[in-house]
Order: sequence, then structure tokens, then C-alpha cells
Amino acid sequence: MWRIFMRLIPHLLLFIVSFSTALGLPENDDRRDYIVYMGKLPGSVEVASARYADLLTQVLGRSFVPGTVTKIYKRSFNGFVAKLTKNEADKLKGQQDVVSVFPDRILQLHTTRSWDFLMQTKKEPRRKLAETNIIIGVIDTGIWPESESFGDAGLGPVPKKWKGVCSGGQNFTCNRKIIGARFYGSGSDARDYEGHGTHTASTAAGLPIQNTSFYGIAGGTARGGVPGARIAVYKACGLAQCETSDILSAFDDAIADGVDIITASLGSQIPPPIEEDVLAIGSFHALAKGILTTQSAGNSGPTWQITASTAPWILSVAASTIDRKIITKVLTGSKTTVVGHSVNGFRSTGNIPVVYGKDAGHGTCDEASLKSCLQECVAREKVLKKILVCDDVQYGTDTAFNKGAAGLIVPTTEPDVAFVEPIPSAALTTGDYGNFVSYLSKTRAPKVNILKSETVDDPTAPLVASFSSSGPNFNFPDVMKPDVTAPGVDILAAFSPQASPSNEFGDTRRVSYNVLSGTSMSCPHVAGIAAYVKSFHPTWSPSIIKSAIMTTARPLHQNGSKEFSYGSGHVDPTKALAPGLVYEITNDDYVKLLCTLGINAAAITRKNVSCSKLPKLNARDVNYPSVVLAVNASQPFSFNVTRTVLNVGPSHSTYNASIVAHPGVKVAVFPRTLHFMSSGEKKKFSVTVSGVAPRQGEVLSSSLIWSDGGHVVRSPIVAYSP
Ligand SMILES: *[C@@H]1O[C@H](CO)[C@@H](O)[C@H](O)[C@H]1NC(C)=O
Ligand SMILES: *[C@@H]1O[C@H](CO)[C@@H](O)[C@H](O)[C@H]1NC(C)=O
Ligand SMILES: *[C@@H]1O[C@H](CO)[C@@H](O)[C@H](O)[C@H]1NC(C)=O
Ligand SMILES: *[C@@H]1O[C@H](CO)[C@@H](O)[C@H](O)[C@H]1NC(C)=O
Ligand SMILES: *[C@@H]1O[C@H](CO)[C@@H](O)[C@H](O)[C@H]1NC(C)=O
Ligand SMILES: *[C@@H]1O[C@H](CO)[C@@H](O)[C@H](O)[C@H]1NC(C)=O
Ligand SMILES: *[C@@H]1O[C@H](CO)[C@@H](O)[C@H](O)[C@H]1NC(C)=O
Repeated sequence: MWRIFMRLIPHLLLFIVSFSTALGLPENDDRRDYIVYMGKLPGSVEVASARYADLLTQVLGRSFVPGTVTKIYKRSFNGFVAKLTKNEADKLKGQQDVVSVFPDRILQLHTTRSWDFLMQTKKEPRRKLAETNIIIGVIDTGIWPESESFGDAGLGPVPKKWKGVCSGGQNFTCNRKIIGARFYGSGSDARDYEGHGTHTASTAAGLPIQNTSFYGIAGGTARGGVPGARIAVYKACGLAQCETSDILSAFDDAIADGVDIITASLGSQIPPPIEEDVLAIGSFHALAKGILTTQSAGNSGPTWQITASTAPWILSVAASTIDRKIITKVLTGSKTTVVGHSVNGFRSTGNIPVVYGKDAGHGTCDEASLKSCLQECVAREKVLKKILVCDDVQYGTDTAFNKGAAGLIVPTTEPDVAFVEPIPSAALTTGDYGNFVSYLSKTRAPKVNILKSETVDDPTAPLVASFSSSGPNFNFPDVMKPDVTAPGVDILAAFSPQASPSNEFGDTRRVSYNVLSGTSMSCPHVAGIAAYVKSFHPTWSPSIIKSAIMTTARPLHQNGSKEFSYGSGHVDPTKALAPGLVYEITNDDYVKLLCTLGINAAAITRKNVSCSKLPKLNARDVNYPSVVLAVNASQPFSFNVTRTVLNVGPSHSTYNASIVAHPGVKVAVFPRTLHFMSSGEKKKFSVTVSGVAPRQGEVLSSSLIWSDGGHVVRSPIVAYSP
């Protein structure tokens, strides 16, 4: 089931940690895939392809064995993937032309209502023709090209700038909506057998399709953010995981193919070192070609400093709720109703016997295993056609499904999100679950009825989802991550008819539209918004589009990690069209930043950066649309940062600064008024932030707002102690 991905995280974390540790050990005979990254292209494709063979022959002292090199990057940057021992990899590291060598790893994949919730109106302005010129590259599990959401009725010819191909494998046909397809790794075509890639692509750019629902739940018109935009498919993932070397291939192609926006709903469970982060590397080359990359923040929340999306040039997206919530009512024999959480497309179970795992055993298991419903502990005849109650959702689902139970009731610590399960089920808050279990113990022959799910209004939305990964930024402590939040809970979008909606083996249902949750779902919303903004402003650079989306976002009313859970706030597509002022960042700024932090800039950007010749640029002084200050716990601090804003609004305008400061922080802006005489004019200002640093893990939030009376340009200012 889709939530396994979320719940398995602690195990996967351990796995990755021990796996990296193992890499430090001398395992000289073990061959594995290494990515040998060689920076920017040496001028011609021919040179690029010739270099790797020479290198291997020279360094490894053996002639080039076919099969040693498994991939070559030569379209947008240079490098290859080869099966090497650790010793061989180490030898390659010191070679001229080689920027970095690191092991290939596995990354995880991280509606109807959501776009209406975002736009607030169905009559948002559109530049229909310009929109059809935007190409969104989707790096994911592929796509189901026959889905109604990807029809091309009314779309004109493929944009002239498109240089890609339709090479989705046998039987994969492109059209004027899906204009390109490629696949990597072990896949045999670009088709989506998981549902994930179909869901994300249709969220970004699917056509409006009326009367969609998941078994009648969450019904309405399913649509993407830019229904006119084109989709280019890069299938780099399968079976809910992706190889880093395939992700890099996807970037290599997408950039050269001429996409405008790249969306990647995937990432590590924990932040990788920036030099080995293929999303950071690929997206940097994309940036150099004017392509903005959006990435999901991850589903490891809400733990502090866990987001794996750390590169300042990526737009990193958290997930939050929408104003439509899916619930599942449970009626007990005593006529009380308990509100459960799940996406239950089955008809109501009727009033039927219910049994707790504790009372459904063989007798050889301990009480905790019985209560959790371990499969080997539960007797089939005691649960058949009954509703099973289990303390553990993971074991419970498998056991109930495989032993013929008619339904399942479990506790959840994440009642803000609902999952599709293979049998009628309801997850109760831990409090409700406790009461329910005690009701069972006091009742003779208890019976309950699990109803089909229904939707209710959720006036608390948007709130950041409990699973959404949080900052601060592990690699760049003074750069905000995530950047923004967008809808990522209970999202209905197109799905693959080859996948089971619960992702549970044995669930034989097949649907064209499914409800999924995750930062994987919020990321394509923001890709859609970026494309929407670009359709109005085709010349805007990635940093301008990113700034427009960030400074017009609305802050959330949420405690906890605050900005480190939602960044600048909840995105607002229509406001992002007219941000007034923007914070622009050049690629050189990023190179200076990497050099200043002592990061091997060449490892990300290109060969031969001479850091010593570049002026220093601290992360807090990068012209980022938000301000983050990592300060020493409990000590006084004072920082003076500068920013430059570019006027993209009316030529004659005057902006005044206003400040909302945390009571423990003093914020001063100089100057407090900016006069612009023309569009395209830049103005510099400084912000002095002082106070006493908070305790570790605490966030002091303030904000700076520039306004000309119409436009509101907001930047959060956050001080925290790492
Ligand atoms: C091609 O796709 C169609 C529609 O999904 C399917 O029925 C057919 O079996 C496929 N053919 C091959 C060779 O995969
Ligand atoms: C949507 O479904 C309703 C009810 O089934 C039906 O009356 C209506 O005609 C459908 N609309 C479209 C466009 O299919
Ligand atoms: C946030 O915390 C403050 C102070 O502890 C409290 O007064 C407020 O009610 C909290 N807000 C929410 C939405 O939980
Ligand atoms: C890197 O720079 C050095 C000195 O500027 C130069 O000698 C060398 O050829 C350059 N290497 C490449 C691969 O450009
Ligand atoms: C934090 O403290 C360390 C050691 O006391 C000092 O070197 C460093 O400059 C301080 N950092 C800041 C941001 O004040
Ligand atoms: C902050 O820096 C700016 C630009 O360097 C300078 O003009 C300003 O006086 C400084 N402000 C403070 C309070 O140090
Ligand atoms: C900006 O401040 C000046 C002086 O306080 C004031 O006259 C003007 O109306 C303000 N403009 C806006 C847009 O708030």
C-alpha cells in the first residue's frame, strides 16, 4: 500500500545509514555501479563519449570491457556509470577530468478539489496559447498514455523548440499532450505500472476530466494546473524506487530535449551530501539552461532537519491539507459513531461481528503480537467475515486481507491523511481507538458497521501534513527548506489501470483515478504553478519564477517547526503572476556560495572552478526570497544581510517596508522606502536582525513585507539554533 513507503521509513533510514557505513569499508572485490561525474560537456558529443573509454583503460589498467560502462551522460553534462571496485573508484577520483565518483544509490518516490482550492476561483486568467508552448518534464514511474487526462483534443502542433523523441517502447504512442517519452534502467517501456507517475503528471498538466472519483468518493472534475501544457515523460523509477544514475540520465535528456520545467517527486530518505545529490547536480545544469526544477521535500516528517531537498536552486515543496477531507464512519452497536480515517471505496460492511487480535489467536503468541495481528498469530476461522481490530496497521492490513476478514480497524497517529486499503477499513485516532477497544472488552458479541467513505469540509486547511519532511537545511543551514507548501493530502488524480489502488499485492481492483497523499503529490502542483507563471512571463528566469511563487505565498498558522515545515507558506498561483518585486539569483552566486562553504563547486557545476579567485558569498547573503539565520543557542546575535529586488511591476512605484518581528527579535530595514522609476530597475536594501538566540530546535519567526499598496512581497525571517 502507498503508505508503506511512509511507515517503513525508520527501517529504510537504518538501511541507508548502515549501507553508507559499509561503503567506507574496503570491499575491494565487490563490484558495484559508480557514477563518474565529469562536469560540463567538453564541447562536442563525440569527445564526451570518447573520453570515458580512455580514462578507464588508462586508470584501471585493463582494456575497456563491454558491459563495464552501463550508462553515459553526454547531452547536457558529462560522465558515465561503470561497474567498479572501491579501489578502482578511488583511483578514478584523482584523475584529470573527473569531478567526482560516488556510488549509485536507490531513491524513493516520495484533483479535483486541490486546484479549485488553490485558485479560489474557476475563472483564473489564462494565456491559453502561451500555455501550450510550455513543456513539463516529469521524472517519475512513467505514464499511462491512454488515460483520458492525457488526451490532446484542441492542442496545436508540438512546440518547435522540442528536440526530444517519443521512445516509450513498443506500443507506446505519444500525442500532442504527451510529446516525448524515454525510459531508463530495467524498465522495458515508459508505461506506468505503479500509478505514481500518471498521478503526478496529471496533477501538473492533465486535461479537465468531468465526473471522476474514486468509487464515487471525492468526485468532480479532475484537472491539472496547466491543462494546455505538454508533458515529456522520463521514466527513471519503478517499483516505488529509483536509481540515482537513472535520475541523472533523465536530467541529461530532459535538459537537452528542451523542457521548460522539471518536476521530480522523489528523493532520499535523509539529506545526501550535496556533492552526491543527483537532484542537485541535474537541476544545476537545468538551471544553467533556464529550466526550474521542483522537488518534493520528502515524507519523513515531521522530524527536524530531515528534508532531503536541500539545493538552493531547487524549488522544494512540502505537503499540506486541502479544505476537503475524506473520512470513514464506524457505527457501533451502541449506536455511537466514531470518525475514522481512510479512503474506503467499498460499500458498508453492514452490522457484523468484530474481533480484537488479542481474541483471535492460535494461543502460542504473546499478547503484544496478538494485539498487533501478526499473521502467524491470527487464526483464520476466528476472523473470517468479521471485522478485525489490530494495534498495528502494517500487520493488521496484511493479516486481515489474507485471512478473509471483512474489515479492519486500527489506530493512527496521522489522522490528517487517509489511505486506500484493500478491504473496508478505518484508522482511528489513538484516543478513539483506546475507547473503542475498551468498548469491545465491555460488550458481549460486539458488532460494528464500517461505512463507505464520505467527504467533509475541513475549515482548518491548509495545515502541513504530519508526514511532510521538515527543515532546517542540513547542507545549507542558512537557506530555507522547504521553500513552500502545496496540496498533498487526499489528492484525486489519474492512475494507472495496471496498478492496484492500495498498492497491495492481491488487491485486484483497478481504477482510472485514485486518491494518493504525499509530498509527491504537492510537488507537481508547484510545477504546474511554475508553468502557469511562465505562460504569462515566458522570459522569466527560474529564480524569478521561484521568487514570485515564494513571496506571494501565505504563511500558515501552525506551531512546531513553523517555517521549517511550510517555508514561505501556501502557494497562490494567481498572486504569483504579479509579484511586484522579485529576488533574482545568478548561477555565479551559487558557485560563489559553494566555494565559500568549502564545497567542491566543480562537483556540482563544472570542471575547473577556481574558488580562490571568487569573492566570498555567505548563504545568508545569497539573494534568496527568504532569510534564515543559524545562530548559536542562547547567545546574543546580530546580523546585517543585504538583498536586491527587481521591479517586475508597474514602472513608477514606491514600496514601503513593514516588519512583523518576533517579540525576542529586533528587525530593522534600510532604506524603508524604495522608489522605482522603471520596470526592470533594481534596488538594494539591508536588513539587520538582532536578539538572543533561541534554544536548540526553537524557531524565532519574523517577516519583512514590501508593499506598494497593491503588491505584497513577503519574506519570512527565521532565526534558529542548529
Ligand atoms: C498494446 O497496448 C494495448 C492497449 O493497452 C494492449 O491491449 C496490447 O496488448 C499491447 N500490445 C503489446 C504488444 O504490448
Ligand atoms: C456526470 O454524472 C452525472 C451523474 O451520473 C450525469 O448526470 C452527468 O451527465 C455526467 N456528466 C458528464 C459530463 O458525463
Ligand atoms: C501555538 O502556540 C501558541 C503559544 O504556545 C498558542 O497560544 C497557540 O494556540 C498555538 N496555536 C496553534 C494553532 O496551535
Ligand atoms: C583547468 O585549469 C587549469 C589552470 O587554469 C588548466 O591548466 C587546465 O587545463 C584546466 N583543465 C581543464 C580540463 O579545463
Ligand atoms: C558560534 O560560536 C562559535 C564558537 O563559540 C563561533 O566561532 C561562531 O562564530 C559563532 N557563530 C555565530 C553565528 O555567532
Ligand atoms: C548593513 O549593511 C549595509 C550595506 O553593507 C550598510 O549600509 C548598513 O549600514 C549596515 N547596517 C548596519 C546596522 O550595520
Ligand atoms: C509609504 O510611506 C509614506 C511615508 O510614510 C507614505 O506617505 C506612503 O503613503 C506609503 N505608501 C504606501 C504604499 O503605503
